[in-house]
Amino acid sequence: MTTARKLVIAIDGPAGSGKSTIAARLAKKLGYVNLESGAMYRALALKAMERQISLDDGEALQQLAASTVIDLEPRGEGNRVLLDGRDVSQRVRDADVTAAASRVSIHPPVREIMVQRQRALGLGGGVVMEGRDIGTAVFPNADVKIFLDAEESVRAERRIVQSGLRSAEDTQRVIAELAARDQRDRTRSASPLVAAPDAVHVDTTHKSIDDVVAEVEGLVRRVVSD
Ligand code: DC
Repeated sequence: MTTARKLVIAIDGPAGSGKSTIAARLAKKLGYVNLESGAMYRALALKAMERQISLDDGEALQQLAASTVIDLEPRGEGNRVLLDGRDVSQRVRDADVTAAASRVSIHPPVREIMVQRQRALGLGGGVVMEGRDIGTAVFPNADVKIFLDAEESVRAERRIVQSGLRSAEDTQRVIAELAARDQRDRTRSASPLVAAPDAVHVDTTHKSIDDVVAEVEGLVRRVVSD
């Protein structure tokens, strides 16, 4: 499908709801770029960890964010993440950075910087951006807003499959980490994870990736034909 106008498509939702996969597939179909906004928080969290900056120190993290260059390079299935020019694509997916990203993202001054940069990336349109606050804060006027969700047990299961973990202990740890991150992302005071009032909710619990992509493509088609 091609679109005459280059749209901005916002996909929000909790961890494991399918955002990255759906955003990548949809972008490919449309000839758009997919941008994983969470990777920016992950990269900043990694730098803070490496410099032993407290994840609770909003001011220090703001300064760090202001002096850090984070580039997202869209690839087939996700983004290559460059932190001050260094490829950290793999490292930022590790469990310690994942938990830290959720912690750095609660600070409003950090969010301000990230949101500004994310807006700049979407200026020309032709983007599918996924995250937690894309439809509410980054692009409140996005052409299409989707809120993906799935039952917690299914989201945890997807994470376990992705990480290739097997033992009961690992499984329990992943479930606990996902629940803790969800709780933090949903209850923080600055731009908590919440669906925009005009977002279309898609529950991916019992749907295949292909089904969800088709559903979301249908929503885009409706906007294009209006
Ligand atoms: O989408 P992700 O799992 O890569 O995101 C990592 C963390 O970053 C997530 O726990 C919350 C934060 N985040 C955010 O606050 N706002 C976004 N738009 C994207 C991610």
